[in-house]
Amino acid sequence: MATSSTTTQPRDTWGSKLGFVMAAAGSAVGLGNIWKFPYTAGESGGGAFVLIYLLFVIFIGFSVMLTEFAVGRKTGVSAVGAFKKTDRRWSFVGVIGVFSGLLIMGFYPVVGGWAIAYIYKLATGLLSAPEAIGDSFGSFISNPIEPLMWMGLYLLLNIAIVARGISGGIEKAGKVLMPMLFIILIIVSIKGMMLPGASAGLEFLFKPDFSQVDSGVVLAALGQAFFSLSLGMGCMITYGSYLKKKENLVQTTAMVTAMDTSVAILAGLAMFPAMFAFGMAPAAGPGLVFVVVPQLFAEMGAIGLMFALMFFVGLSVAALTSSVSLLEVVVSYLIDEKGLKRSTAVALAATVMGVLCVFSSISLGGLGPQLFGTGAFDVFDLLTDKIFLAVGGMLVCIFAGWRLNREELEKEITNDGDIKFPLFGLWYNLVKYVIPFAVAIVAIAGVYSGFESGKGEIMLVGLGVIAVSGIISKKL
Ligand code: PFF
Repeated sequence: MATSSTTTQPRDTWGSKLGFVMAAAGSAVGLGNIWKFPYTAGESGGGAFVLIYLLFVIFIGFSVMLTEFAVGRKTGVSAVGAFKKTDRRWSFVGVIGVFSGLLIMGFYPVVGGWAIAYIYKLATGLLSAPEAIGDSFGSFISNPIEPLMWMGLYLLLNIAIVARGISGGIEKAGKVLMPMLFIILIIVSIKGMMLPGASAGLEFLFKPDFSQVDSGVVLAALGQAFFSLSLGMGCMITYGSYLKKKENLVQTTAMVTAMDTSVAILAGLAMFPAMFAFGMAPAAGPGLVFVVVPQLFAEMGAIGLMFALMFFVGLSVAALTSSVSLLEVVVSYLIDEKGLKRSTAVALAATVMGVLCVFSSISLGGLGPQLFGTGAFDVFDLLTDKIFLAVGGMLVCIFAGWRLNREELEKEITNDGDIKFPLFGLWYNLVKYVIPFAVAIVAIAGVYSGFESGKGEIMLVGLGVIAVSGIISKKL
């Protein structure tokens, strides 16, 4: 993405409309779609989760993304600055966003490292023993050392990209590799659906069984929508700040949302039919893609190896285009608000992320510190998508609905009346009343049900952090 570090200089803007859509889609489409969505759907009972997720994407995700783009373009500065410029007491929302970025980067590179490791593992014979693929994933991620090396490599790639401000390069790579990933997902889906017994997977994915739904599942679907669309932490505010005044925000939002959601659904189609055909449990957990995709291609000889390699190369690049946007949120905060040089900001942010990732990675082998009996990987995951992003998205809506002026928002979204947006009133009311209320209810009910699984305390800590930072900032 284009970079501009001070708020006084005119900002760079995206060269072309497609460039912006691809960059925002590059941030949105990542491990969240291909790794997290299928396994979360699997653990949350399938069809009903998918349906609730889709409803959240349409009614909440779309509106929040449009809000973030509008706030970003209107203020012309990145997350913290966007709030600060309007009302400094709201800066804490941006700061929570930066904090969320830091925490997501406390586990995302671990999984990004797995994706790169699988390129290597495939190239060195993983497919030659198909029966061992499942076990080898389990022993790989619980090994205290090996995944750390891959995580380190992944983090270094992020550092190299963000430090040099050359994210343009990775976006160019993304333009080629993301369509490739899309095509491979289609191939994987078709291949999976042709296996005997695959139709049970389709049924699992699309036939809602509401007896599986509790408030924990609803919160998981909400968190997944925010995580997958890169919302609730100021990332899309920052992206929007680089958008030209003449671009159509509504159309852009629709395109990014549609791309992100179709990749997630396609990833579901690629995983579940094959899983059911292989007789794996849908709640197989975070190993899903890493086991299903290699197994599916194991029987196909050299062509299978090629497809599997292309899949993991595509996955690694999709992960990179997302994580550089996460790192950039933290880095641009340190540059804009703390006055650091880009290189120092990257070094500082990446060091903290690296340390958090070490804790995350070793927690999968049962090592390292725990919070209320939960390891670092799960703590960061829980705190971010279920609490920080959802509440962050809610606060962005409250900010836009109650702190900004309706006429100005309308002008921003319709480009001073040039663009027709007949649903403006609906969007505005969703943002001002419905979304804050809905997110609050879902979060409270989700935290409540979290106590049954021993996760409630952690989520409560997250809510406490937000409350305290809100109170402190009001006093500033
Ligand atoms: N949307 C990314 C994914 O689905 O992998 C993750 C992400 C990126 C979340 C950037 C939040 C963010 F600001």
